[in-house]
Amino acid sequence: MLDWDDPLGQNTQAAANPAVVEQALASLSKIEVTETTQTKSVQLNGTEPVRADDKRVVNGLTDINQLAPFKYPWAWNYFLNANKNHWTPLDINMSQDIHDYHHKLSDTERHVYENVLSYLTTSDILAMRNIGLAVMEKMSAPELQIYQARQVYEEALHTWTYQHCIETIGLDQGEIYNRYRVVPEINQKIQMANRRLNAVLRADIDLHQRDDLETFVLSYLFFGAVFEGCWFYNGFSPIFALQRRGLMKGTAEQLQYIMRDEVMHCGFGIRTVKQIIVENDVQLDPVAICEMWDEAEACEKAYSSYVLRDPILGYSADEHMGQFRYIANRRARQLGIEEPFPGAQCALPWLDEPGQYSQGEKLF
Ligand SMILES: [Fe+2]
Ligand SMILES: [Fe+2]
Repeated sequence: MLDWDDPLGQNTQAAANPAVVEQALASLSKIEVTETTQTKSVQLNGTEPVRADDKRVVNGLTDINQLAPFKYPWAWNYFLNANKNHWTPLDINMSQDIHDYHHKLSDTERHVYENVLSYLTTSDILAMRNIGLAVMEKMSAPELQIYQARQVYEEALHTWTYQHCIETIGLDQGEIYNRYRVVPEINQKIQMANRRLNAVLRADIDLHQRDDLETFVLSYLFFGAVFEGCWFYNGFSPIFALQRRGLMKGTAEQLQYIMRDEVMHCGFGIRTVKQIIVENDVQLDPVAICEMWDEAEACEKAYSSYVLRDPILGYSADEHMGQFRYIANRRARQLGIEEPFPGAQCALPWLDEPGQYSQGEKLF
């Protein structure tokens, strides 16, 4: 029987813990990306079985309908592991959350709760469109597409989860879903992601062209490492701060399931980007990477200043930003690029201690 506390079966002693998932994925990511001279010789036609060495992440010419032999067994493992974290929002009791929201939360806490949900639900629709419409169709190995098909479903499930929370609590759905359009501090995060999505969603993009390939790599890198790996990963934390005080525990449990998925989405995105870089000898532009981190930080700073304009007990905008920079450095190390915020320390130790919220893995 599946152990929900240890969905990857890596550590039977671990508590319900996204870090367990991330640690397991980190061990996978330590496997060097592979490229062999045989990839230069690509099977074009004929009836011979697909050769694993001929497969490519993008621009491959092997039969996309032949799953095995695998060139990327790690991608298949992501798919198998993703299926161990399955739930529906209806499985989680939200009755105490209804009482908490209406009778226990302060106005400041309600402001935090509503805006976190407003941001997350818009972002998850965007995440679904990105992976389903802009990324998956560019993959030329089926083991990659199959995990991404699961990811598309998971992003839709996340959207259902937020909708279930919003409806159950009794929030004004029209107002909550429209909020990202009228609150500039939420809107600019969405716009940053929209720009990168639209840059690779256009019909005439051609990954055989060096500029288009680099644009695609940067876009996928942003979505995996920043959008999912930092903004989502960090975005749940204010609700976890409420949960630590016994508030909104149903919502927080829902978000913990989502967080496990997002950790895997981030790990898969980073792994895939690294493979594309190796296979195609892509040279990342350090200026473009630096601009991406700077913009992501500026967006997150404005967002946190709005959502946490007044701190709640145990959580402030400054702490949120400190944790963002700390996690951003972790993603950069996973990518094998320079840390954007040297010296950033963990600002919220309770998120980094072994236990329910632990992100305490020391990966690299
Ligand atoms: Fe998601
Ligand atoms: Fe995701």
